[in-house]
This record gives sequence, C-alpha cells and structure tokens, in this order.
Amino acid sequence: MGKMRTQSAPWRAAAVLASVLLVGGVAACGNSDTGGGGSKDDGKITMGFSQVGAESGWRTANTTSIKESAAAAGIELKFDDAQQKQENQIKAIRNYIQQKVDVIAFSPVVESGWDTVLKEAKDAGIPVILTDRSVDSADKTLYKTFLGSDFVKEGRLAGEWLVEQKKSASGPVNIVELQGNTGAAPANDRKKGFGEAIAANPNLKIIASQPGDFTRAGGKQVMEQFLKAYPKIDVLFAHNDDMGLGALEAITAAGKTPGKDITIITVDAVKDGMQALADGKFNFIAECSPLLGPQLMDLAKKVHEGQEVPARIETEETTFTTEQAKEALPNRKY
Ligand code: AHR
Repeated sequence: MGKMRTQSAPWRAAAVLASVLLVGGVAACGNSDTGGGGSKDDGKITMGFSQVGAESGWRTANTTSIKESAAAAGIELKFDDAQQKQENQIKAIRNYIQQKVDVIAFSPVVESGWDTVLKEAKDAGIPVILTDRSVDSADKTLYKTFLGSDFVKEGRLAGEWLVEQKKSASGPVNIVELQGNTGAAPANDRKKGFGEAIAANPNLKIIASQPGDFTRAGGKQVMEQFLKAYPKIDVLFAHNDDMGLGALEAITAAGKTPGKDITIITVDAVKDGMQALADGKFNFIAECSPLLGPQLMDLAKKVHEGQEVPARIETEETTFTTEQAKEALPNRKY
C-alpha cells in the first residue's frame, strides 16, 4: 500500500473533507461495497474496481468471479457498480485515485471518453487494467493491459455459422439485430464481425438493427417493435443471451415459434441461454466468458510488483450448437 505521509493540521483537515466528499459522491452515484478506507500499510494489495452494472446474467457471473477471485488471492477489493453510467465510472476511478489504491481495474461501459481520467491515474502512479471491454484511447500507455474477449471474432463466428446454414437459400434472408448499449465495445465489435461474415452471401440482409442495451427488457421491447414493423423476419442476431431471452417472449407472444420460424443466434452462453439452446429455442451461441477474475488478480499482482505484462490477453472461447449445449449444460458454472 501507499506510504504514510507527515501532514500539517490544515492540510489534513482539507484532505479528510475532500475524501469524505468524494466517497459520498461515489456512494451517491453507484453502489459501492466498500466505503472510504484509503491506503493502509498492511502489505495487502488494494484494487479499486468499477463494474459496468448488473444488466445481464453475464455481468452477474463476472462480478461474482471478480469478488471471489479477489478474496482467494488475498486482494482487498473496493467495488463500485456504475449502473451503466460513464460518469459514475469516472467518479469511482477518481475516488480510487484519491484513496491511493494500488491498482485500478474497470470494464468501460463505452469505448470513448476515458483519456482524462486515465491520465489522472497515470500521473498518480496507479496502474490501470482494462477488463472485459477496452477503450479507444490512442495513448496505449494510459493502461497496462486489456484482458478480455475478441468481440469482433464472436460476431464473425456467429455470422459464419449463419452463412453455412443458409448457403442454399435461393431468396433474401431477413435478419434483425439486437445490439448492446450504444458505444460499448461489444456492441460495436460484434456488429462489425457479424456484418463482415454475412457479406459472403448477398442473400443475407440486416433489415433492422437497434440497441436493446444487453437487457432482457430491452430485447423484448425492441423485438416487439421489429415484429410489428417487419412481417418476414427469418433470423435474429442478439448481441447477448439476455436480449435473446427477452426476444423469445415477444416472438412467442406474436404466435411464432422461436428457433423454427425465426433462427436465433446470440453471444455469451450463460446457463439460461444454454438452456434455451438445448431446448431448440436458440440455434447457435458464440461464447463470451465472464470468468475473468483469476487472471485479473494475477495481473494485478504482477503490475503491482512492476513486472511487464502482455498488452493484450485474449480470453479463450468456443461456440455451441444445440447438441453441444445439451452436453455442456450439466457442467456449466454460470
Ligand atoms: O462486455 C460483455 C458483454 O456485456 C456481455 O456479452 C453482455 O452480456 C454484457 O452485458
């Protein structure tokens, strides 16, 4: 942890007031598990983690993985739930800088707009690890590493599967797309990868594409609109399981059979999504693993010790068909 400093009385009073205000600010804007605290000289690494929110089954599993892994690694975790707001993440990061944590880690809700706060962390000498999602900062020295999935690849794998399935289609195949929250790396990248892959067959056309914010409610609501606006929908590509699961309700309510009348492709492979796939309601899932905690804690220890770490660490992932989901489900951890 950071070193103790000798302070004059007025400075100390001002510092205490500033830290109370900052901690109050974070508590007011997000859900913090840990209060003030500040740095201690107990030899333990302290990590400040800013989570996107709790929008999906994936996110819940990711939060559990981070909390359990921190405890197992003996790392003191200060955790803040930003409730899908970038401003909350920036406040949380500033609070962690003020508290002089040893390492800051976060999953950025959107890709852009991080340079200023990342520079503040760098100037304070606190290493930053990006986990799950990356940022679009040109200055790569603002963070130590990015640990997470290749979202473009996930979209591409989803698209390639569809190209293969529809290779004998003689007419247009109408696709609707449920995107993640606007500006998020997985929303941008999965759209890109999927679009590039389906370009191989001009019959495959995305007729509508809207954000469903990675939530079940969002997926259901947007799918209802799609079903009203477009009488012929052949395929749904949902950027995550939760939106696909919400869309199932809309599709069933519209009198259509999911997985048969409409082919459904999603990303994540959380238990509920895998169950839908095993039941034949989904047709294909590109996996995105939320179990990033153990690698994150290992990286935190290394950067804290000043060790070099790779600039990019990609998560290993696979894809699932219905048969593969049936096989994998009994041992699925999340
Ligand atoms: O960043 C990972 C994505 O965020 C997951 O695919 C989605 O479920 C989550 O909300």
